[in-house]
Amino acid sequence: MLDKLEQQPADALLALIKLFEADPRSDKIDLGVGVYRTADGATPVFTSIKAAEARLVAEQETKAYLGPEGDMGFVHALMPHIFGGGDPSHGGRIEGMQTPGGTGAVRIAVAMAKKAGVTRIHMGTPSWPNHAQILADTGVEMVGFSHAAADGSTDMEALRTTLHNAQPGDAVLLHGCCHNPSGIDYTPAQWDEIVGLLEETGVLPIVDLAYQGLGVGMDEDAYGTRALVARLPEALIAYSCDKNFGLYRDRVGAFYALTRDAAQTTAALSNGHALARASWSMPPDHGASAVRMVLTDAALTADWVAELTSMRTRIQQVRAKLAAAGSAGAVDLVPLGRQQGMFAMLPLNKDQIAALRADHGVYMAGSGRINIAGLTMGNIDKFVGALAAVSG
Ligand code: LMR
Repeated sequence: MLDKLEQQPADALLALIKLFEADPRSDKIDLGVGVYRTADGATPVFTSIKAAEARLVAEQETKAYLGPEGDMGFVHALMPHIFGGGDPSHGGRIEGMQTPGGTGAVRIAVAMAKKAGVTRIHMGTPSWPNHAQILADTGVEMVGFSHAAADGSTDMEALRTTLHNAQPGDAVLLHGCCHNPSGIDYTPAQWDEIVGLLEETGVLPIVDLAYQGLGVGMDEDAYGTRALVARLPEALIAYSCDKNFGLYRDRVGAFYALTRDAAQTTAALSNGHALARASWSMPPDHGASAVRMVLTDAALTADWVAELTSMRTRIQQVRAKLAAAGSAGAVDLVPLGRQQGMFAMLPLNKDQIAALRADHGVYMAGSGRINIAGLTMGNIDKFVGALAAVSG
C-alpha cells in the first residue's frame, strides 16, 4: 500500500539551510531562511530568554500535561503587546490558545474558519509559501490577488476589487506586518480603509502576525491588527514568537479569536482545542514558559524590548545602506529602504539566483526573496557586487 506514495520534493526554503551549511566557502552569505542574524552573522539566544530559561530550570516543579490550550499565562501575557493595553480582551471577546509556532496558529485559524463555513480564502500573492500549503492541506480553496503594485506599494486596487467581489463565506488572509516575502506593508491609512471594506463586505479576516517588533515598532507593527479588532465583529489572529523572541526551533506561537461576544469566543476556542487535540494534542511547553517569564517580569521585559529594538535598528540600517547603494546592475535597491522587516524580493530570474549561489556563495530563496538580516556592514559590498555581476 505504501508503495503508492510518491517521493515529495524537500521544502525548497528549508533545503537551503543544508546547502548553505555544506558550502565550504568562508565568505558565503546566507540570505535564505528567515532567521535574524547579528552583525557577526550569529543567531544567539536572547539574554532575556536565557535568564528566563535558567529560572525555569530552577523553579519548574512538574512537566505534567497542561491541555490542548497550552500555557494560558503565556497566551494572556502576550495580549497587551498584540492588542494594546487597557482591555486587550475587548470585554472577553478575544481569547487565545498556545500553538506550535505561528504555523500551528495559521493551521488552527484556517481549520476553524473551515469548520465555521469558510470555503475560500483570498490571499495576496506572493505570500509565504507555507500559507498556500496549509490552505491546500486543510481543503480550503485559495484565491490569489496581487499584493504589490508596479510602483512598489501595496496593490490596494486589487484588494478592493477582491473584497467587493467576495462571496458569503469568504475569508482573507492578511500579513499583520513585515510582509513575507516582499517587505511591502499596508500603511495605517490603508489598514483603516481595509477595516472599512471588511465591515462593508463581511469577509472574515485572518491575520498572520509573525514579525511584530521587527518592522517599525511593537505598537506600529500591530496597527492593522488593533484596527481590525477595534471595529470588526470577528477576526482570527495567528501569532509567532519564533522571530521576536528568537525561539525558532522551540516553536512558540499563539492563536486568538475575536467574536461577537464572550460566550461565542469560548465556543470558538473549544473548537480550537478540539482541532489541536486531534493534531498535536498539546503544544510544546518550554519556549512559551520562557516567554511568559519574560513578559511577567518587568526587568526581563525591558531587556527583551531592548534586544528587539537593537535587532530592528540593525535591519533598518542594512536597508538604508542597500538603498543608498542605489542599484546593483539591473536591480533597483532604493525601494528596500522604504520596505519593512526581514524580507525583500529582488527581480532576479532562476539563472541569476543559481549564479549568485554557484559563483558568489550568495544563498537566497528561489523566488528572489532575500533575508535582509543575513547582510552585515561587512558583506553588503560583496553582495551588491555579486548582484551587479549577475544582473548587469
Ligand atoms: C521564513 O519564511 O523563512 C520563515 O518563516 C521560516 C519558515 O518556516 O518558512
